[in-house]
Amino acid sequence: MRNLNQDNITQAVIASFSNTPDPRLKEIITSLVQHLHSFAREVKLTEEEWFKGIQYLTATGHKCTDVRQEFILLSDVLGLSMLTIAMNQDKPPGCTEATVFGPFFLEDAPHYELGADVSNGAKGAPCWVEGSVRGLGGEPIPNATINVWQADEDGLYDVQYESLGHSQARGIMKSDDKGRYYFKTIVAEPYPIPVDGPVGTLLGATQRHPWRPAHLHFMVEAPGYERLITHVFRDKDSYLDSDAVFGVRQSLVADWTQLPDGSFRMDYDFVLNPKAKA
Ligand code: BEZ
Ligand code: FE
Repeated sequence: MRNLNQDNITQAVIASFSNTPDPRLKEIITSLVQHLHSFAREVKLTEEEWFKGIQYLTATGHKCTDVRQEFILLSDVLGLSMLTIAMNQDKPPGCTEATVFGPFFLEDAPHYELGADVSNGAKGAPCWVEGSVRGLGGEPIPNATINVWQADEDGLYDVQYESLGHSQARGIMKSDDKGRYYFKTIVAEPYPIPVDGPVGTLLGATQRHPWRPAHLHFMVEAPGYERLITHVFRDKDSYLDSDAVFGVRQSLVADWTQLPDGSFRMDYDFVLNPKAKA
């Protein structure tokens, strides 16, 4: 393997992985090399440009902390997160569709009784949320775990405040014996994804906006059913057709009705996919 040139280097690199014992790893690394080399050839990548690319990836790594994952954000704005979800979450018709997880989930959110106010002091117009959790055959799913989280009216999640010291606008509750859930919160508003890092630089350089349409995040779990990670989006939001992370599905857009007292109400029913029998 000497004197490799632009015509034979790709095959030589692929051959170097030929002893990979794990067949899936071999498939992935082979395809990755093939596509990376094709990309470099197609755009006639210069050495200077590739050095800039490496600097960009290095800065992306440096931006990551325990509470900030810039690589996930990069995958989100490149549509790769949503592509992998779309390929792997192809549920039967009638099931609630999945969408991006996002970086603001907290494992240890507070537990609430049904009907409680999960906003816990977060800023925003009051909103009542109500619905059911059902299986594909319409059967109610009692005791399902419903985990909700959202941004406040300033577009910030509690974890984005440096010294808040307690959870806001997030909580965990259980559906009742009819599979129903209901809680108070604040209305969702559109917000920009974090732009103070390399992902923001990319969006700026490409004249893309960072906004996400208003949404509530939900994780719904019940024994015997696949875990659902999704959002419910607010109808009429001006970013529904240009979500910075490509996560909008029409079936996840609900009516958020404003009541005469200025508060809001949103109803949404979740349908879970039964787990495949072993
Ligand atoms: C979110 O909805 O919380 C989110 C999703 C992807 C990137 C940034 C934020
Ligand atoms: Fe979000």
